[in-house]
Formats: sequence, C-alpha cells, structure tokens
Amino acid sequence: METNRGIHVQSDSIDMVTETGAADPVADRPTADLDAHGASLVVKDLRVKYGGVEAVHGISFSIRPGGFLTLLGPSGCGKSTTLRCIAGLEPPSGGSIEVAGETIATVSRQTPPEKRGINMVFQSYAVWPHMTVAKNVSYGLRGIPKDEIRDRTAAVLDLVGLSRFADRYGTELSGGQQQRVALARAIVTRPRLILFDEPLSNLDAGLREEMRYELLELQRTVGVTSVYVTHDQTEAMSMSDHVVLMNEGFIEQADRPREIYRRPRTEFAASFLGHANLITGVLDAAGSRLTASDADIVAVAEEALPGSAGEPASAVVRAERIHLGAAAEGLDNVWSGRVEHVSFLGRYLDVMVRVGGVPLRVEVRDGLPLEEGQAIAVGVRAADVHFVPRAERPEQ
Ligand SMILES: Nc1ncnc2c1ncn2[C@@H]1O[C@H](COP(=O)(O)OP(=O)(O)OP(=O)(O)O)[C@@H](O)[C@H]1O
Ligand SMILES: [Mg+2]
Repeated sequence: METNRGIHVQSDSIDMVTETGAADPVADRPTADLDAHGASLVVKDLRVKYGGVEAVHGISFSIRPGGFLTLLGPSGCGKSTTLRCIAGLEPPSGGSIEVAGETIATVSRQTPPEKRGINMVFQSYAVWPHMTVAKNVSYGLRGIPKDEIRDRTAAVLDLVGLSRFADRYGTELSGGQQQRVALARAIVTRPRLILFDEPLSNLDAGLREEMRYELLELQRTVGVTSVYVTHDQTEAMSMSDHVVLMNEGFIEQADRPREIYRRPRTEFAASFLGHANLITGVLDAAGSRLTASDADIVAVAEEALPGSAGEPASAVVRAERIHLGAAAEGLDNVWSGRVEHVSFLGRYLDVMVRVGGVPLRVEVRDGLPLEEGQAIAVGVRAADVHFVPRAERPEQ
C-alpha cells in the first residue's frame, strides 16, 4: 500500500492530505497494539418508546465482525435512538440486541452500558478542555499499569496523527483535531463496537470530506465493528458498503448505496438518495407500463414491478437519465415536453421540463441550446425507468 503524507483509501485509491500536516498516521502504523476487537452485532425487531410514543418500530439489521454499517435518514427518523439503545442508554420496548452472540438487551434484561464494551463518538466532540490531549485519551484506561497506559495512548495518538499535540489542552485544538481526540478516545479502550452519531457534522465542508476518509481508514486499521449515523446522503454513499435507510422509525431499504440509487424499493428511498423524478400513475396488467395520472403519457420500464399489476405506482426517472431534443429520438419512451426553466450550474444545465402536468428535472451535459418556453422531445430508455409502489404512509 502506497502512502505519502496522505491517507490512502484502498478501495478507490483516493489520497487525502491530513489537515495537520503531521506525519502520516497510516505509514509506520503501530499495529502490535491494535488487534482487531470487532464483534458481530445483531439487532432484531428493535422497538423503542419514549413515554407512550414509539420512536423505533421494530427494525432489524446485523453487522459482521469488523464491518462498517451506516444508518441514514432524515431528522427524527430514529437514528440516535437506535444507537442509544445499542449503547445501553435507552431500554428497548421490544426485540433484542446481540453483540458477539451474547444478548445484551431485551425488554426484560439489559446489560449495563459500561459492561457492553461499546464506545460512542458524538457530533459535539466532548473533549475535556482542562485536560491535555494525552490525558483526554488515556482517561478511559484508568486502572491498568502506567507503562501500558503510556504505550497505548502513544500508539493511538500516532494512529490519529496527534502525537505532536499530546501536551496541548482541549481548548487549544481545532475542530478537526478535537474530533481526532474523540476518535482516539473511542479506540484506546479497544471496544467491541463503536457507535458514531453524526461525528463530522460540526466540521466545515472541506474538512468533513477529508475526515470521512480518515475515519474509514482508521476503522479498517483497527478493525472495530462500527455503526455510523448520518442524515447526509453523500456522506453515507461515499463511506459505506451498506446503508440502512430509515424513515419515521422504520427501515425503508437496506442495501448497497448503488442498489438503493438504481433500484429503490419505495418513493421515499428514490427521493432521499439523489434527486428522483416521480411520475405517478397506474400499472398495466403486466406491471411494466405505467399510465400517468397527471399527463397524457405512458412510461415503459424494462423490469416489471412484481405483484403490482393494475396497481397505483410511481415511475422513478433520474435527472441524468433523461435525454432532450435529438438525443431523445428512438428511445423507448419519447414524450412531448416544454422547457420551463434553465439554470447553468457549471458542469451541467439544470433544466425543468414539463410533460403534460408533470414537472421533470433534467441534467443536460451536451450544451444543447435551450430556451424557456420551447417545445422539446423528452426521451428515456426503458432500462432507466424503475417502478415503485405508491407510498402507503403519508409523505413527510
Ligand atoms: N428523550 C426523548 N423523549 C421523547 N421523545 C424523544 C426523545 N428523544 C428523541 N425523541 C423522539 O424520537 C424520535 C426519533 O428521535 P432521534 O433522536 O432518534 O432522531 P434522529 O434520527 O437521530 O434525528 P436527528 O437527525 O435530528 O438527530 C423523534 O420523533 C424525537 O422527537
Ligand atoms: Mg440524532
């Protein structure tokens, strides 16, 4: 594995330069002290109530030892509640949680938080200002021999690139450095599981992006099983092999980000991950042609929606999959539209086209001359039309 002063992400070869300019925390990585401590996690039909109100309605997911799983969803969907329940800060009102095959929480029995071997990293870094970086990190190691505390603290500070800052106080650190202290503190006690609750959302955009890769690299190095919570779809998509998409206390879809993007199972999943145009209507008897309710158009898809013949459904069409003008000719779906609005966004034109009563957002990359009000052909391949059932629960 090649490294310079940056963080090397094996999967997609992205090199990121660390914010501190400190020695590369990945090269010369101290490995002897950092055996993998990841345990499996199984969450089964978990329910959580606050007072009489259920915030999490029976969700299930699991992670293999050393795995990284992201809970993604809008504000209030139950992400933090789920984490708090795994950590032992909230009792379940139904279901169970297992770590390494051992049940740590059911309605009737809960292992105390300090006995679970689980650490949590929050959005607010919670770094103690009156303690040095080294003290902040070593605090959790109280009770073990001094030499070992010193060695383990040094190894972890090296790993997160903070060795030079060991004697600084919490107040003398930047946001990114404070977040690294929080990471170091979460790792040093060698937990079986780390829970991250929007750990990067207090950082500015550039640093947030950089820290994503740094955090992932660290997670892979240490091998600790991790649950990562975010409401930011870009963060979820760039960091995770697997995303659990939550909405109003339910799981909408659990899959690889690419699959959720290409084959969303619900209208919510289609809209939450990337912008989706939704054309509502009714499917034919074969489930592969949709007659739109608000426009005189039919949308044909390559794949039928199983079990939905004759049912209300929505066709999902991504903005980058719609072709205009000459490019629309000969495609499986060609509709007559009118250009409503054109915005120049640098890399592409963001075009609003209306087909009958249906507004469609289109990304145009080929410099087509477009004028507002102009009539235009709108084309989509059948392979780029995907049907989902109409939402049963009201949209938020
Ligand atoms: N202590 C509490 N008492 C009562 N209701 C609560 C409590 N904590 C959370 N809730 C409610 O439970 C639901 C889920 O909240 P939760 O904090 O898990 O959402 P979240 O997905 O983490 O949202 P955010 O992205 O805003 O952090 C919300 O409706 C919230 O109002
Ligand atoms: Mg939250």
